[in-house]
Amino acid sequence: MTRTQVAIIGAGPSGLLLARLLGRHGIDSTIVEQRSRAYVESRIRAGLLERSTVELLDECGVGARLHAEGLVHDGVRLAFAGQVHRLDLRELAGHPMTVYGQTELTKDLGEALARAGARLVYEAERVAVHEPDGPRPRVSYELAGVEHELECDFIAGCDGFHGVCRASVPAAAIKLYERVYPFGWLGVLAEVPPVDDELIYANHARGFALCSMRSRERSRYYVQCPLDDRVESWPDARFWDELRARQPSHEAGRLITGPSIEKSIAPLRSFVAEPMRFGRLFLVGDAAHIVPPTGAKGLNLAAADVRVLYQGLVEHYRGGATRLLDEYSARALSRVWKATRFSWWFTSVMHRFSDDSFAYKLQLAELEYLIDSPAASRAFAENYVGLDFPA
Ligand code: APR
Ligand code: PHB
Repeated sequence: MTRTQVAIIGAGPSGLLLARLLGRHGIDSTIVEQRSRAYVESRIRAGLLERSTVELLDECGVGARLHAEGLVHDGVRLAFAGQVHRLDLRELAGHPMTVYGQTELTKDLGEALARAGARLVYEAERVAVHEPDGPRPRVSYELAGVEHELECDFIAGCDGFHGVCRASVPAAAIKLYERVYPFGWLGVLAEVPPVDDELIYANHARGFALCSMRSRERSRYYVQCPLDDRVESWPDARFWDELRARQPSHEAGRLITGPSIEKSIAPLRSFVAEPMRFGRLFLVGDAAHIVPPTGAKGLNLAAADVRVLYQGLVEHYRGGATRLLDEYSARALSRVWKATRFSWWFTSVMHRFSDDSFAYKLQLAELEYLIDSPAASRAFAENYVGLDFPA
């Protein structure tokens, strides 16, 4: 039996970030991950960071490459009814957004942890949580056929939506809230310069489209597609034609196309589990909540959970107080529900749900109001750049 102060399950952004912050405060942790390091580091996900996420990465001492290579965006564009409108985030909400791929972020964190001699177990099989509500929780797993057990003070469930941690909580002790959307996003990564230097979210009668990027040379584009669609039905040429068709003519004319590097379809879902704590088990990031990607809140919410949890653990190990740990679930959920509301709303106003022309007219009215009213523009910008943390 090995001992660690905090057993972290999952080496996604949540787990890596938490391990790094705890390590910087002298708190010992061990990460147990079921996949290989190469697999975890190559997963292509979102890449848009709020200011408070950037600050947390700075606090981890891994901000150097992010500041050198990340693209700072002062504004964002919304396209509808054939026009593009720009919202100045810095002017409206005081902060920009930063484009930096999750693959780069996990690489930076992984390297910093390795340099610090952190304990990371990859390719662990049959990971299980034991007695999370007792005084001495344990985590067991198999590595190359050999059984291991980890005794700890706390377990951080950073194992994503399909992980074991949330599933270890008895049904009577957790409540689940869910909304599934009737469409998916088909995403393409391509080595071509982005169509614009800022992101364009487009509401179009053919369906939603998003022009995003990873760098000045690499674009990340999405189109709304039916849930049962398959990537095989989307050769590159069809994807580019569809993306072009959903842009206003000026942008469509400027779109540079090229071979795709990656192509995938993701369903859209809103999901929240309450509370985010069961005894000494804390659920963090995607293990506790999922948002649709509209607005890119997933990774930022995970970072916000980590921030609340690590501060609670630091307080506990410094002086034994559990006030912040006791408040973890309520504090994290307050932010989670606000981001859940925003990404649900942004999804609702940008996507085509049905042939209902009344609903489409309402979307256009709402978007026009959003652009025309300084109060509505500001409310949007505040949510998009990320709400402030309550003191
Ligand atoms: N045992 C160990 N590890 C597990 C288990 C398990 N039973 N189940 C899942 N994992 C690992 C996964 O392989 C993955 O590496 O947990 C990790 C969870 O990572 P994410 O799904 O990325 O979740 P999180 O770290 O909370 O990240 C949240 O980043 O990846 C994006 O879309 C995600 O935006 C969201 C944010
Ligand atoms: C992305 O770049 O992958 C991205 C950006 C903004 C979003 C969603 C995804 O809202």
